[in-house]
Amino acid sequence: MCGILGYIGKERALGTFLDGLSRLEYRGYDSCGVVGIKEGNFFLKKHPGKIHELRSGLKDFLEERFPIGIFHTRWATHGRPSQANAHPHLDCKSQIAIVHNGIIENYLALKDALIKEGHKFVSETDTEVVVHLIEKFYNGSLKDAVYKAIKKLHGSFSLGVISLKDPTRLIAVRKGSPLIVGLGKDGNFIASDIPAILPFAKEVVYLKDEEVAVIRSDKVEIFHFKGSSVKLEIERIRIKPQDAEKKGFEHFMLKEIHEQPEALKRIFSLYVKRNTIEFPYLNLDEKYVKSLKKIFITACGTAYHAGYVAKYFLEKYCDLDIEIDTSSEFRYRTLNVTKNDLLLTISQSGETADTLAAVRDMERHGVKVLSICNVEGSTLTKESDGIIFTHAGPEIGVASTKAYTAQIMVLVLLALYIGKIRKTIAEKDLKVMLRELSVLPEHQKEILAKINEVKKIAKEFSKFGCFLFLARGINYPSALEGALKLKEISYIPAEGYPAGEMKHGPIALIDEYRGVVCVAPKDFLYEKMISNMQEIKARKGKILAIVNCGDTQASRLSDAVIHCPQLKNNDFSPMLVAVGLQLFAYYVAKNLGCEIDQPRNLAKSVTVE
Ligand code: G6P
Repeated sequence: MCGILGYIGKERALGTFLDGLSRLEYRGYDSCGVVGIKEGNFFLKKHPGKIHELRSGLKDFLEERFPIGIFHTRWATHGRPSQANAHPHLDCKSQIAIVHNGIIENYLALKDALIKEGHKFVSETDTEVVVHLIEKFYNGSLKDAVYKAIKKLHGSFSLGVISLKDPTRLIAVRKGSPLIVGLGKDGNFIASDIPAILPFAKEVVYLKDEEVAVIRSDKVEIFHFKGSSVKLEIERIRIKPQDAEKKGFEHFMLKEIHEQPEALKRIFSLYVKRNTIEFPYLNLDEKYVKSLKKIFITACGTAYHAGYVAKYFLEKYCDLDIEIDTSSEFRYRTLNVTKNDLLLTISQSGETADTLAAVRDMERHGVKVLSICNVEGSTLTKESDGIIFTHAGPEIGVASTKAYTAQIMVLVLLALYIGKIRKTIAEKDLKVMLRELSVLPEHQKEILAKINEVKKIAKEFSKFGCFLFLARGINYPSALEGALKLKEISYIPAEGYPAGEMKHGPIALIDEYRGVVCVAPKDFLYEKMISNMQEIKARKGKILAIVNCGDTQASRLSDAVIHCPQLKNNDFSPMLVAVGLQLFAYYVAKNLGCEIDQPRNLAKSVTVE
C-alpha cells in the first residue's frame, strides 16, 4: 500500500507533484512527505496526516520548482503514523533520500547490525534500514550502492532513491510491489500507479519484478537484479486525465456508483457481438474448456463477493465443480489440483499481494490461471495465462463499487461463454439472457433515479448501532457485499449472513435498536425470505428490504424498501441490488459525517500480505 511518486527533468512546481501524489492517496493516507533537491540541498517536508494538510502547511512553497524529487503517501505497517515515521527517510548524513512501498521482512536484524556499525535511526519503520544500507555501500555510484543494499533485503519493496551526491539520477527498484516509469516530454517519472502521472506522461514502462531503473531527465535504463540490461517495453497510457476526476460529484464513490450503467454497457458492447461472446485475451482453447472439471475462484474483499456470485452462476449454467476461497486462505491450503482445473482470480487493482501469491502457487502446480482485472498493465495481467478486462475505468474511492458490478457482468458473460462451449446452455436461452443483460444498464439507472428515497431511508437507519444483511441463493453474496460496504465507510458493525442461517446465531442480535437489511427479490426463495422477515418482525427488528417493483408481501413486513426492477432471470439481480446497497451505505456514512472516499485504516490496493 503506500503510494510513491518521483520525478527528474525540467523544473516543476511542488504543487503539481502534490496533485499527482493526491491521485495515489487511495493507496494509503495516514501520513505523507516530499523531498526535492534545490541548489544542492534537500527540501524535505513530512506530515502525520493527509496530503491536503501537507499542502496547507506548504502554501508558500507550492510554486517552488524542483528538477528532481520523491514523494510518498503512507499506509502504516511498521510504526504508527507520525512525522518521524512518514517517508521520505534520510541517511545519517542527510545526503540520500528514499521512499518505499512494501515490507522489509528482515529489517530488525539489519537495523541491529547497522546500529552496531554506528548508524543513527530516527524512525520505527522497516524502510529506514534501506537508506542506511545504501549509505553504507555508497562508494561513488548510487546505482552500485542500491544494488548492494537490495541484495540484503527480504520482503517486497518498490523504492525511489535520490541523492545530493548525484542529483542527475533517480533510481527506482521493483520487487513484489508495483512501480511504473512514466515517460514525459520534459522529464521522467516513477509512480505506484498511472493516475499519479496522468497529466504529465503519455507513455509508460511497467517495471517487472526484480528490475532496477536508472532514470535521468532524458534517458531511462532498466537492469535486472542480476545486472543485465533490459529492453524498454514502452506502452501508451490509455486512461484520460479526466477519468480520474470527480466530475462534479461530492465523492469519488458517488461518481463511481453512477458510472455503473456506462461500465456495464461498455463491457457488453466490447465482448458481445451479434449474440456471440468473445474475449480477446482469454487464451483458453475450446478443447480445454470442454475438458474442465473444476474451477477454483479466489479473490479478496469486494472482488471475492463478485466471485461468489460467479460460483452460483457457473455451477448452474456450466455443469462444473466450483470452489471459492479468499486468496489469503487459498494460498495456504493443501489442494488436489489437476491439469483439468482452472484458477479464476478477480481483482480490481491486479496488485493484491495474496491474490498474486495464489496465482504463482497454482502456476507452479501447472494449473492455468484466468484473471478478471480492471487495471491494464498490472502485475496480475502480466502473470495470468488469460485475462478479461473489466473496463470499468479508474476506480478511486476506496470502497469498491463500479468494479464490483463490472466484475459480475464479465463473470456472467464468461459463464455463458463456457456454457455454450460445453453445451450446457441452449442457443435460444443464451440469446434470451444476452437480451436481458443488454438492458441491465437501463435498470441500474432506474435505481439511481431513486436516490432521494434512499437518502431518506439512510437518514432514518443511520441511528442503528449494528446491522445484519440477509439474503438467499445468488444474492447471498449481495448480503456480504452490502455489509462490507456499510462497515467500510460508516464503521457501523455489519454482518452478511445467509438468511437461513439467521436462526443459528445472528437472531440473538435482533431487537428494535438494530437494522436488518433483507434482500428479497421475487425468485424461488422469496417465500423463505418472507418467513425470515416474519421472524425478524416478531423480534422488533427494523427491516429495510430490497424488493422488486410491485412487491407487496415483503414490503408489508418492512420499515423501508428500495425497489429494483423485476428481471426475467433473477440470476442477474446482484448487479441491480448492489446499486441500492451502495447508495444506502454511502448515505448512512454521509449522514454520520464519515470520510467516504478514504475510510480510516483501509487502503484500496493491498500490496502487502
Ligand atoms: C482492499 C480494498 C477493497 C478490495 C480488496 C481487493 O481491501 O479496500 O475494496 O475489494 O482490497 O482488491 P482488488 O484490487 O484485488 O480487487
